[in-house]
Amino acid sequence: MYEELLKQIDANKLPQHVAIIMDGNGRWAEERRLPRTFGHRVGVASVKAVIKVCLELRIKYLTLYAFSTENWARPKNEIDALFKLLQEFLRKERKRLQKEEIKLNVIGRWRELPAKVVKSITSVVEETRNNSKLILNIALNYGGRQEIIDAINKGIENGEKDFSIETLQKYLYTSGIPEPDLLIRTSGECRISNFLLWQIAYTELYFTKVYWPEFREEEFLKALIAYQRRERRFGKI
Ligand code: IPE
Ligand code: IPE
Ligand code: MG
Repeated sequence: MYEELLKQIDANKLPQHVAIIMDGNGRWAEERRLPRTFGHRVGVASVKAVIKVCLELRIKYLTLYAFSTENWARPKNEIDALFKLLQEFLRKERKRLQKEEIKLNVIGRWRELPAKVVKSITSVVEETRNNSKLILNIALNYGGRQEIIDAINKGIENGEKDFSIETLQKYLYTSGIPEPDLLIRTSGECRISNFLLWQIAYTELYFTKVYWPEFREEEFLKALIAYQRRERRFGKI
């Protein structure tokens, strides 16, 4: 199946940057009468699968929405479990990130996270900062509106007065990173949930009913194939 789908990929028409709203972990687990946190755990395997495909196809930028500024409204035990999983991921995968030349970049107000989490992130970001095969952006305590506000405030602090599109972009968390070509959301919800509001002005959107824990290599290839069939116009005819 994977090989069949791979044959349909046109290497010259791949997105340079894919962003993903990884949704549906909770429902995937609930449907199996498992705790929601189990869904998050299985979702980590999907993260690894998507990274693998990006490396294989040489997709250079991958941005994953892992925790939104609105997700603080969830029960404490679920939030704790999510950050535990993140730390476990960083601990177990740091060697591989280095070996595969992946640069970890975290976007959002992540410095406000629990000190332990900030510490593990900082250490892996530091360790992988010279890698460039894949730029893995993880959005943590991320909100698109907050990003724009943070950018304006940073700009003002830096003496900017008259903001143009280019000026504002310089201060976004994603400064220096091309805009996503493709945004995927799993789990059947067709909304943006405060993700990359500024950057997705011309991004192709792909929604699938598949829950994140089941979004593996094949599903990712299907999304890429759908993307390749789109005609991007950017306002032209
Ligand atoms: C996505 O899955 C993971 C996070 C938002 C952290 P959900 O936990 O939102 O799963 P559903 O949407 O409740 O199924
Ligand atoms: C979006 O999913 C945030 C992440 C995937 C991290 P949510 O499950 O939080 O979004 P809503 O609440 O359904 O819009
Ligand atoms: Mg959800």
